Amino acid sequence: MFQPMGPVILAIESSCDETSAAVIRNGKVLNNIIASQAVHHKYGGVVPELASRAHQQNIVAVVQESLSTANVPVNDLDAIAFTRGPGLMGSLLVGVSFAKGLALALDKPLIEVNHMQAHVLSHFIDDPKPTFPFLCLTISGGHTQIILVKDYLDMKVIGETQDDAVGEAFDKAAKIMGLSYPGGPLIDKYAQSGNEKAFSFSKTFMPDLDFSFSGIKTAFLYFIRDSKKENPTFVEDNLPDICASIQRHLIGMLTEKLILASEKTGIKEIAIAGGVSANSGLRKTLVSLSKTRNWNVYIPAFEYCTDNAGMIAIAAHYKYQRGEFSNLEVSPLARMAL
Ligand code: KG4
Ligand code: ZN
Repeated sequence: MFQPMGPVILAIESSCDETSAAVIRNGKVLNNIIASQAVHHKYGGVVPELASRAHQQNIVAVVQESLSTANVPVNDLDAIAFTRGPGLMGSLLVGVSFAKGLALALDKPLIEVNHMQAHVLSHFIDDPKPTFPFLCLTISGGHTQIILVKDYLDMKVIGETQDDAVGEAFDKAAKIMGLSYPGGPLIDKYAQSGNEKAFSFSKTFMPDLDFSFSGIKTAFLYFIRDSKKENPTFVEDNLPDICASIQRHLIGMLTEKLILASEKTGIKEIAIAGGVSANSGLRKTLVSLSKTRNWNVYIPAFEYCTDNAGMIAIAAHYKYQRGEFSNLEVSPLARMAL
């Protein structure tokens, strides 16, 4: 097929609580429309049933806005891409059904994208781009992984959490302190004016490149409970110091394994991706590690850290180039390996 302009692909992301659509032309992401779901804030976490309902309410408007701001008539699309998994089943189903319906109606190919692979590939949306092979610490509300990236679509998980994800640890720590969801950005904000050495918490030792966050979560829960017994306003009186301290521990647990992975593989091209890569403390720590360890560090723009369809679009672009299409039988997968 002769395509002077390169493929034009509409990408849809609906794996958790952001409904997002993006258009990519010839490898250039033209826009990245994201509708976040405020409905979950008061529940302290994502409520799956409410998430899928909100996706249904938002998806048509989000896709229309993406196509119209990109100035792409629907008939000019060369393919429709969507997140197949991992994610919440009811949320994924909305995006998968919408993409299938559109592909069927337009008689265009479908491209399924792995959400975690897309987080990694968000580094190929803008410059500077990492060179292969590189290591990507992929950290979100559902995942904590160190991925060895050999090529655009050739990746291997070399370390991962055996229990909670680091984003979950941030969100649970915030909830224990009575902060709203998602707590990660709030801890980040309060930590900026706190003393990170004020408090210490015990954590579980994990061998090799794997992580565990359940131990520190429990230690934090008991620490807050016991401190409040002595001083009922302990959290209010010490919020910045508590946030800075828990953040220092969580960042330390991540970078300790990243350093080990770099030493084991000899790779000094280091990237971070996923919602927690928006954390300003982690970003600063990586910049200083780049100097002390001679790493080339790649940190995504904020827009591409949390869930977004721009990253689905770039992943779809590489799959299109390789002719990796799906048929209409494709179904969502809540758990999906790389
Ligand atoms: O990648 P993402 O948008 O969704 C998932 O696939 O999970 O990540 C969401 C997670 C949440 O746990 C949220 O608290 C965390 O990313 N997060 C942060 C920050 N911004 C988002 N955690 C720490 N600091 C931040 N600035
Ligand atoms: Zn994600």
